[in-house]
Amino acid sequence: MSERQAAARLVTPEGREIALPVLEGSVGPRVVDVRRLYAESGMFTYDPGYTATASCRSAITYIDGEQGILLYRGYRIEELAQKSDFLEVAYLLLFGELPTRAQYQQFVHDITYHTMLHEQIQFLYRGFRRDAHPMAVMIAVVGALSAFYYEDLDVEDPRHRLIATDRMIAKMPTIAAWAYKYSVGQPFMYPRNDLDYASNFIHMLFATPCEPYKVDPVLARALDRIFILHADHEQNASTSTVRLVGSTGASPYAAIAAGIASLWGPAHGGANEAVVNMLDEIGSPSRIPEYIARAKDKNDPFRLMGFGHRVYKNYDPRAAVLKESADEVLDLLGVKHNPKLEIAKELERIALEDEYFQERKLFPNVDFYSGIILEAMGIPRKMFTAIFALSRTVGWMAQWNEMIQDPEQKIGRPRQLYVGPGERPFVPLEERG
Ligand code: CMC
Repeated sequence: MSERQAAARLVTPEGREIALPVLEGSVGPRVVDVRRLYAESGMFTYDPGYTATASCRSAITYIDGEQGILLYRGYRIEELAQKSDFLEVAYLLLFGELPTRAQYQQFVHDITYHTMLHEQIQFLYRGFRRDAHPMAVMIAVVGALSAFYYEDLDVEDPRHRLIATDRMIAKMPTIAAWAYKYSVGQPFMYPRNDLDYASNFIHMLFATPCEPYKVDPVLARALDRIFILHADHEQNASTSTVRLVGSTGASPYAAIAAGIASLWGPAHGGANEAVVNMLDEIGSPSRIPEYIARAKDKNDPFRLMGFGHRVYKNYDPRAAVLKESADEVLDLLGVKHNPKLEIAKELERIALEDEYFQERKLFPNVDFYSGIILEAMGIPRKMFTAIFALSRTVGWMAQWNEMIQDPEQKIGRPRQLYVGPGERPFVPLEERG
């Protein structure tokens, strides 16, 4: 819990001094508490994009952007990616501590036995054109869950929240896999409760009812690691969206649908799909300088996808794990040459030596290498952001639960700097010429 340690002093344009409390977290920068600013000064703060605003207290995830450190509940992401599995990490994010063996088994059981979707949900899929993007389908299907679980959901009841959390984490792989199955015209595959979380997802993606399909444990482990790396990332755009929607008391399913919509944009989770499209477009290492020049040209809207981050001003630790993973996975899959990986590494090398990227502290982010691994695993490009959404659901639910329990929680309601016309009289149409 943060405490008031000191006061920041603000002098108003009229010369009045106002003391604002400074709050101290467990680690990281201190925060000026501006909640009484308007009452005391008649002024608001102005911060488009929330570049300097802490929107909440949170004990879930910590990022040190200068050092390139990411902690889930105090544990380094690199260590979790290496030693843990996704459901253990999910438990950690949701409940704050690593589970005991019994707690882990119970949690795995609870998630495993909520994986089926209501049979009627199949009809929702059938309403889409078959080339619909899986993210569009997921927004709709997850939003629709709010109709399936409406009467019996009280967000103030911890048990109801727990059931909603289990359901959301359990059903997301089924929802995502079915979006893919529908797009390729294959029958929906039901979840298999004898398989682990990642293997079950791979099975629902690639198996058909016609023949047995054996999940490659190498692929399952690689995917599980990708899930871990994407599980939470503090108050990013989609998580803030989930919190904002949830702050009104809305259904968590509606809040997660909004989170998926927010994640889809190419500046956020949609970047993983955009990166492989960009690498394809570049096509050969000889064309990299041309694309670097375009990224630097302020008259060209092109940006190097998978590069840059609002918080990391150093290497994104998730990108470092994925870069290493890409080599390992391709090796295990017997891929000797992956032209995309070669272009990506060369692009990274050239960009990191370039003054433009150095000055702005632009490094590869999580999306830079993830798509290459997913593609090598045979996962279709349109599913990349869906996989991000599936993984991030854990973080969204953890943050939603934390928000509801926070005694300081209020409906999210920013103010504005109004620049429109002042009050003026209405002129009837016939007098307007
Ligand atoms: N390529 C070229 N220039 C860039 C890039 C890039 N990828 N990213 C930032 N810049 C420049 C930008 O033009 C600006 O330059 P100047 O100061 O001369 O105007 C400066 O760097 C600061 O950029 P910004 O847009 O003010 O930074 P931001 O914190 O608002 O944006 C970002 C962060 C991630 C949206 C941005 O870096 C970007 O668009 N990156 C490409 C998309 C991407 O990879 N997104 C995934 C983010 S990580 C995972 C996730 O959130 O899902």
